[in-house]
This record gives sequence, structure tokens and C-alpha cells, in this order.
Amino acid sequence: MTKSNDVIADYNGYDYKKIFWEDADRKYEDLADRMAIRKLLPKQMDKFVDIAGGYGRLADEYLPRAKAATLFDYSKTELAQAKELYGDKIHTKAGDIYDLPFPENSFDALMMVRATHHFKDMQAVSDQLYRILKPNGIAVIEVANKRTLPKMFRYWFKKSDINPFSRDVAHLKDLNSNGFYNYHPKYIEEIFKKSGFTIEKVLSVSNFRSARLKKLFGAKALSRMENVAQGALAPIRFAPSIYYRLKK
Ligand SMILES: C[S@@+](CC[C@H](N)C(=O)[O-])C[C@H]1O[C@@H](n2cnc3c(N)ncnc32)[C@H](O)[C@@H]1O
Repeated sequence: MTKSNDVIADYNGYDYKKIFWEDADRKYEDLADRMAIRKLLPKQMDKFVDIAGGYGRLADEYLPRAKAATLFDYSKTELAQAKELYGDKIHTKAGDIYDLPFPENSFDALMMVRATHHFKDMQAVSDQLYRILKPNGIAVIEVANKRTLPKMFRYWFKKSDINPFSRDVAHLKDLNSNGFYNYHPKYIEEIFKKSGFTIEKVLSVSNFRSARLKKLFGAKALSRMENVAQGALAPIRFAPSIYYRLKK
């Protein structure tokens, strides 16, 4: 059971790989994540951990850069899939993010992608990530942003009560029975700094996440625009995913 989260996003028994990635049109989002990771992750790492890494969707991005890589997740279903895909190339460890089963100063680098929307207490999560990194270690963290342009329009046209400009955590209950969390960039940046992290780099990611744009341009052309937009649009923090490169 989670310690400080009243929502457990339980992926046990859920085929995230097939249902979310393979059966849906998410090629562009996958490419956008990969582009950001290539820009932010250290080129060489001794010990690396992918936190809430699921079935290892992004493992082929970090395996060539890491001497030893661990995939950590709550779901044993996800971890078993990762083992099938990567065998001995990856270590797997099950557990809860609020109580990471690693000693202090364990890793040179870590990554956490598409997971913050499941976590209510991001200060506790950030403190845990800080604890397991070695001094000068690097954390690449993707954050689900509440201050996006579509969310602003929904708020201005009274389609949603969630104020994207307030720093409160947005709890999107309607998305499924458990809900999701979205964060204001300023709120999350304060949390990272409070843990002790220095923010080294920020990227704006999945800038063109729209069914209409995907249909119009296709994933490849969109991802070329995405590549430019990730750095150029970072200062305004309007994209659904904001990536941070943090240093301990
Ligand atoms: C949307 S998936 C993202 C997986 C992977 N990072 C990716 O981008 O493909 C979210 C993952 O978070 C994991 N998760 C959710 N709550 C967790 C918790 N409290 N502790 C550890 N992992 C958790 C789920 O099991 C799931 O694999």
C-alpha cells in the first residue's frame, strides 16, 4: 500500500503496452519523450534507475548509456513484461515510490517519465528521488502540466472549473475513478528546490499533442517541429509535459 498517496494507480493486470501504446495513436508522444530523454540524460552512467518505468518502454534509450540499469515499478505485471523484453540487461525491483527500496546515494542518474500524474504528494516523491541519488547525480523528471493552452481555453470558456493559473494541485477526478494529478510548473519547481535539487535544464514536450494535428501532419513531421519547439517553448511552460534535468 502507498504511504502518503490515497490513490494507487495499480497497473497490475493491465496491459499498458498494448492498450495505451500499441492500440492507440501515440507514435508522436513516444517520439517526443525519446527526443527529450536523449537531450537530458547523461551520455554515460554507472548506475541508473528508471522510476515507475512500467514495462521499460524507454529502456532502449538508457541501456546503451548505463553500465547497470534498474527498472523500478509498483506493478509486477509491468516488471514481468520488461524481463521478457530485456532479460538480463535490466534489473527489476518492485515497490512503492513513497518508500523506495534503495539506500541513500545509490545511483548516478535516474529518470521518471509519465508518472507524476499518479502522485498526490510530490514533495515526498521528490525527497525520495533526491535521497537515492549520489551527490552531483542527475534526475530527469517529466511533469504533467496543469498550465497548458487547451486547459486555459477550457477554463476561460467555462468548460472546466480548474484554474490553470493557480498553483493548487489539479485533481482530475473525471478521467477515471481514481483521478489524475496535474501540477503548475512554479509549484513543482519550488518542490524540487526544497528537496535540494538545482534545475539545470527545462524542456517543453509533446507540444503538438492533438488528434487533429496528428492527422494533418503525421507523427514524423510533427516530431520535426517538436524537436525545435522543445527548447524554444521551454520558457513559457505551456506544453502538457514539462521535462526537468535536476542535479543533486
Ligand atoms: C503511465 S505509466 C508510465 C510508465 C513509463 N514510465 C513510461 O513512460 O512508459 C505509470 C507507471 O507508474 C507506476 N506507478 C503508479 N503508482 C506507483 C507507485 N506508487 N509506486 C511505484 N510505481 C507506481 C505504474 O505501475 C505504471 O507502470
